[in-house]
Parts: sequence; C-alpha cells; structure tokens
Amino acid sequence: MATIHIDPLEKRWIWVVGGIVALSIGIQVYFAATANIHPPSNVEVIDSAKLHLDGEFTEDKLGVKQEADGSYTVTMVAARYGFYPQNIEVPVNAPVKLRIASLDVLHGLHVPYSNMNTMVVPGYVSEVNTQFTREGDFPMICNEYCGLGHDYMYAKVHVTAGKS
Ligand code: CUA
Repeated sequence: MATIHIDPLEKRWIWVVGGIVALSIGIQVYFAATANIHPPSNVEVIDSAKLHLDGEFTEDKLGVKQEADGSYTVTMVAARYGFYPQNIEVPVNAPVKLRIASLDVLHGLHVPYSNMNTMVVPGYVSEVNTQFTREGDFPMICNEYCGLGHDYMYAKVHVTAGKS
C-alpha cells in the first residue's frame, strides 16, 4: 500500500481549515438551538425552481398593483443578481404590501427609512407591510451575501407625491 505524503505545512492548514468549518457549523447549530433562528413568521412555501412557470411570480404579474381598497401590492422576484422589476413606484403614505420570492439562493432586502428589511429565503414567500413616509428615490439593496454579484444587486423605490 502506497503511503500518501502530505507536506507538514499543508497538514497544519488542513487542521486550521477543518477548525474554521467546525466552528462555523457549531455557531449555526448553537444559534438555531438557542436563538430559535428560522424563516420569518409568514410561513408560506413556494417552489423556487418553478416561480417563472406559473402562479403569482410569473414575469407578467410582477410589479405594482393597486387594490380596490386603495392599498398597493408589490410583487417582486429576487434572483442573482437583481430585483425584478428593478424600478417600483408607489405613492407616499399609502399602505404597501410587498411580496417577494427568491428564484435561486438566499437574498435579503433593505430599504432605508422604512421597515422594509427581510430575508428572502428560497422556498418561502416573504411578505412585508409598510408605508413610505418620505417622497423620493430610495435604494432597495440586497443585504444577504448571495455571490460575487451581491454588491451590484439593487432596485429603486420611487415614492411619489401621489394623488392630491
Ligand atoms: Cu442577493 Cu446579496
């Protein structure tokens, strides 16, 4: 039987890397058990791989829709590396319900000056209810590292003066 020679320096790094992996798995298990970290309370499952085929998140149904009661429903998809549609426009002070699903991996979204801050977990529909109290353009940025293009993943929320 041939013995495999491993350089001592390489061997040391195997232990270092193994330790880092064990530590990160340990941290995740610890917080899952003690801090009850799991998908948000709006538990609504969806097949992320089939979002584009049929249902609420097909391309032609994305965007802003005004409801009969005057509120707005915004339907979006998060996918590497963008939010679709990339521009949304809603009036100031109107009730807005955002529904978003991921097409691929874990994303997050955050809109400054609002309570819009949620994870977008593949397999689940994330829902946030909000009301924009300032007019102007706000960035919607991805705040969960999702890959090399993470830094470029954003959309724009245009809050208009609305009807007078
Ligand atoms: Cu999507 Cu980071």
